[in-house]
Amino acid sequence: MNYTLSPSILAADFKHLGRDIESVVEAGADAIHIDVMDGNFVPSISYGMPLIRSIRQGTNSFFDVHLMVTDPERYIQDFVDCGADGITIHAEACRDIENAVKSIRRAGVRVGIALNPGTSLSCLDYLLDIVDMVLLMTVNPGFGGQKYIESSTRKIRALRQRCIEEGRELDIEVDGGITRETLDTVLDAGANVIVMGSAIFRGDAAENTRYFKEKLAKRAGV
Ligand code: DX5
Ligand code: ZN
Repeated sequence: MNYTLSPSILAADFKHLGRDIESVVEAGADAIHIDVMDGNFVPSISYGMPLIRSIRQGTNSFFDVHLMVTDPERYIQDFVDCGADGITIHAEACRDIENAVKSIRRAGVRVGIALNPGTSLSCLDYLLDIVDMVLLMTVNPGFGGQKYIESSTRKIRALRQRCIEEGRELDIEVDGGITRETLDTVLDAGANVIVMGSAIFRGDAAENTRYFKEKLAKRAGV
């Protein structure tokens, strides 16, 4: 299994955002997780295309863009144009999720579907064939620094089990409350793309990145 560490810049220091990104990329981060919040799908507002366009100038790292936005299909091409390499949209936020997924695919980037903690895996039934990744939210979206919701573990395990039974190599991303304490739980359950905000950027981001990369390398048997 391939493991990916995707630090979420929501927890970075925006005074020195370029520097923070550089330090996690140099320390081995596989991607940069970019949380876009619209103040509608989630209560808070974060940042959008201009910021992504600007940080794109400073790194070639994979941009894992997580849209917490109502009707995200309106903005797919804009996010691709400003530098997204993968776009994840919420099943709960789309009028026609299948169509939205297809338009991300047509735009030539990787496609993910995100599910809130309260959304059932059954809504993926007709979509698993057309996505690269499923993001299982392990907190309710909207803010960094929240506590991992324990019942997520069962959901991660159920999705990985289903993929094994169906012979699918799906990426399962987890996002929210992943820390030194909860990492093993999500890995044991079958997650392989790990988003971390506070656990990376609180304290020494480079040192934290190296610590988590080493943990993932051990899992991968490298
Ligand atoms: C929450 C965001 C997360 C957030 C995670 O809605 O989607 O990506 O940055 O932050 P931590 O790792 O601090 O829970
Ligand atoms: Zn996120």
